Amino acid sequence: MPTSSLNPHLPFGENKNAEWYGKDIISVKQFKREDLEYIFGVAHEMRGMVERIGTFDLLKGKILANLFYEPSTRTSSSFTAAMERLGGSVIPINEVKYSSVSKGESLPDTVRTLECYADVIVLRHPETGSAAIAAKAARKPVINAGDGVGEHPTQALLDTFTIFEELGAGQVDGMTVTMLGDLKYGRTVHSLARLLSLFKVKINYVSPDILKMPKEVMDEVAVKGIPQAEFGSLEKVLPETDVLYVTRVQKERFEDPADYEKVKGAYVIDPIVMKAAKKDMIVMHPLPRVGEISVDFDDDPRAAYFRQMEYGLYVRMALLAMVLGKA
Ligand code: CP
Repeated sequence: MPTSSLNPHLPFGENKNAEWYGKDIISVKQFKREDLEYIFGVAHEMRGMVERIGTFDLLKGKILANLFYEPSTRTSSSFTAAMERLGGSVIPINEVKYSSVSKGESLPDTVRTLECYADVIVLRHPETGSAAIAAKAARKPVINAGDGVGEHPTQALLDTFTIFEELGAGQVDGMTVTMLGDLKYGRTVHSLARLLSLFKVKINYVSPDILKMPKEVMDEVAVKGIPQAEFGSLEKVLPETDVLYVTRVQKERFEDPADYEKVKGAYVIDPIVMKAAKKDMIVMHPLPRVGEISVDFDDDPRAAYFRQMEYGLYVRMALLAMVLGKA
């Protein structure tokens, strides 16, 4: 996109004919490769604008309802920061027990309420499919900020943008991406595997037996002709890995706590393990971490997980501008 379209000194009109105007963002299945190139172009511009002027009025007068039924630090605060960096404002509902949800209000009624006051709704909910239900009820755009063990599409977009920015767009094709940890319940890896299947990558899955990548996701990726392989240990695949995507074993998703005890701490990334990895690869993590990456590795230039959070701000700025007809 032309740089001038984000110039804060130009008058901004809503472009109701823009491709993404008024659209919901529910699943990565919505995106084609050219959409990613467009989103990452806008996100790159947003990065430049934040670095140059910090805050600007692209979404002045617009309101975001940030509706979180599950805990969040990054997604919730980066959407808030994104809206405020663009000159808009936010209705934060980070603890639904203090809202009318605690009186039994349904999700469709809650989003119908919020869209009376806001222009866009960001939703995190513990049930898979909840974002689609909310989007069906709402006239305004709904953005899925994580629906149970289903999807986390904006995380997958920021993860892929991180790979583009850190390793170079031209290098995504041909890369080997290794996903490690809880691949069964990890919605971030479900979305990322699907999104990366738009590129010519090879994907390795390393997990305990009880936390393997769901067959449904692997089948969808296989249809795109992407080579995939499953492993129980990292040793064999680490030397060929360009992107190591580490995930937390999520205690809160286990029905039987004994199963969690069996697999927690199954993998720990530390400077000794990382001696076997390439010098020009990156380690990513959606965070929070609870010990699967040692803090001793944080100062290694390959540790991209803190930079990854910042890329999320620019991608979420781009998405808000797009669905509100300003990009
Ligand atoms: N990555 C991520 O979704 O983090 P939060 O749970 O803190 O939002």
